Amino acid sequence: MGKLTLNDLTIDEKLRLLCSNGFWYTMDFGGKIPAVSVSDGPVGVRAERKNAQGETITLPSVSYPSTQSLANTWNTDCARLMGECLADDCYEKNVDILLAPGVNIKRHPLNGRNFEYFSEDPYLAGHMAKSYIEGVQSQGIGTCLKHFCCNNLEYNRFEQSSEVDERTLREIYYVPFEIALKAKPVSMMSAYNRVNGRYASENKKGFKVLREEFGFDGAMYSDWEAVRDRTVSAKAGCDIEFPFNQKNYDNLVKDFEEGKITEAEIDECAARVLSLAERCKEMQKGKGVKRTVENRLDAAQKIAEESMVLLKNDERILPVKKGTKVALFGCYAKPEKDMIAGDGSSKVVPLNKDFDLQTLLEKELGVKIPFESMYYYNKVLGTNGYAHWAAKPHLGRNYAAECEMNIICVGTGAPFEYEAGDRTDMRLPAVQERAILDLARINPNTVVVIFAGSPIDVSAWESKVKAIVYAGFCGERGSNALSNILCGKANPCGKLSETFPVNFECTSVNGTYTDTAVTCYSDGLDVGYRYYGRHREAVKYPFGYGLSYSEFAYSDLSIKADGLDAEVSFTVKNISDAYGKEIAQVYVSECSPKVYRPLKELKGFVKTALKAGESKKLSVKLDSRSFAYYSVADDGWTVNDGVYEIIVGSSCEDVKLIAKVKIKNGKIN
Ligand code: BGC
Repeated sequence: MGKLTLNDLTIDEKLRLLCSNGFWYTMDFGGKIPAVSVSDGPVGVRAERKNAQGETITLPSVSYPSTQSLANTWNTDCARLMGECLADDCYEKNVDILLAPGVNIKRHPLNGRNFEYFSEDPYLAGHMAKSYIEGVQSQGIGTCLKHFCCNNLEYNRFEQSSEVDERTLREIYYVPFEIALKAKPVSMMSAYNRVNGRYASENKKGFKVLREEFGFDGAMYSDWEAVRDRTVSAKAGCDIEFPFNQKNYDNLVKDFEEGKITEAEIDECAARVLSLAERCKEMQKGKGVKRTVENRLDAAQKIAEESMVLLKNDERILPVKKGTKVALFGCYAKPEKDMIAGDGSSKVVPLNKDFDLQTLLEKELGVKIPFESMYYYNKVLGTNGYAHWAAKPHLGRNYAAECEMNIICVGTGAPFEYEAGDRTDMRLPAVQERAILDLARINPNTVVVIFAGSPIDVSAWESKVKAIVYAGFCGERGSNALSNILCGKANPCGKLSETFPVNFECTSVNGTYTDTAVTCYSDGLDVGYRYYGRHREAVKYPFGYGLSYSEFAYSDLSIKADGLDAEVSFTVKNISDAYGKEIAQVYVSECSPKVYRPLKELKGFVKTALKAGESKKLSVKLDSRSFAYYSVADDGWTVNDGVYEIIVGSSCEDVKLIAKVKIKNGKIN
């Protein structure tokens, strides 16, 4: 089939091209043009197909750690690796384009889809997404960057309007898209919500920014069933409506006949759909599955290991020494598949169902480990409102008292974190909190493992336990990763990609969840750590925080500048006797700004592996954007002359090194 142009299509075909073929395909007119097949999603391929009986089934696929967990690695190589593996999964299921990644900012800790997004920080989210896209597309499979934009809450998601000022859009909500677009995703998806009153699928102004300023050259899709008026959305630049909607299509045809949309306007969208099909065909030439399924599962485990965050480790209770008599508690230790994943379009049917921490720990520690599941999500297991272990002392209570250490697995899972609704509480279900407190009372050597996709309010029990590991939604090899972390075969090296506030009341969004139709982004630029810093609000665990079994020392900060480009160099030394990885973060702060600015903002990071005693000189590159703000007065990025702090930290609060630079006449000196 030669390359077709718009001239080869009739107007009827061009109109039809603007609407998909069913749920997951673009139109091919019986083979006249190549069809494109799309599938979710960010953490594994959720390909829906018909079985022999004509029923729709989801094909099993490798289940990787959630996007939140991936972000907690702060490792762009992990994002690239996951992308490459996902491309292989796509080939096996005849999928041309993966509907991922999602880069929306985590403005609201209760957002039901937080587990599907990277971070509260646009720089981190953008760079992780960019590498993920590069990974997928380097293997010839397309990506779809979503959901443009300001999709930060699920509540009333088809209608609610995210009301955001221009500067905040430019500096916070657009940035992850802007950075990720450098990887040239073949497509994007608009969001469900409205943005400043306009449905996201009709966001002409936003689409113009994407195409004319951020270099987006692919096709724009609607989110599924998000289109209200196909004509208005096509005129705005939404190229394909998914899934096919007969009524919307009929109206589009009618509107064309009545002159409400011109052939030139139809052509603009149709041309992009045509070139999407050509581009996908070109990209796949000479490519195909590269890794075995086992390799991909190993990759899923490696990413999970890098993503887990050690939040607390008093008296260095972790790692657990061989032979330690451990008792294991909580249904999440042997979860049903829904317990370690969020629900909705990103939910994957994993290949393996055997997530069994007990067996893995027994093997690693060389001891028999008693296990009691205690609860099922938010329900006590047992009779008379008591758990077995409470009602029958020979079970859990004895284990907890007799063993040297309790490990209790708690969390959320699909019934709490899902698309189309938000969490109602940042705390764990009461039964889980009570179980932690009871165990800790019986034996203070209690370690808590949290399986979740968003921040948890730990204040009810945190001070009573010795250690906390945030395992996230860690994918189907998560138990292997966790067992390695707990037993010291792997050294924790993840850091939080979003703040863990003390509780919901101290977040910037407390009390803003009141209007059914409008969310006013009154916090402006002060999202996440930018808010807590500005308002001197204490947090439980700051952005960028995470402990290790190693310890690191920072020294020798130096800055080499050329115009507004700067190379920030410093040395990190592993001052412990354990091999480990550190994530060094570089923040920039304008000391005496002439416009409102966040107190500090992440502008670079580097993750490095260090042997015991080893030191390395690391460097992070800054450029003019690292110092700039978006001037609404001038419609562009501006760097003010003045003094700036370059802050090197191991979290946004744990500052290790600071240097000041002066910018004069647009140059660092
Ligand atoms: C979600 C998208 C997803 C699409 C297709 C929508 O409900 O918002 O993220 O890609 O469904 O499953």
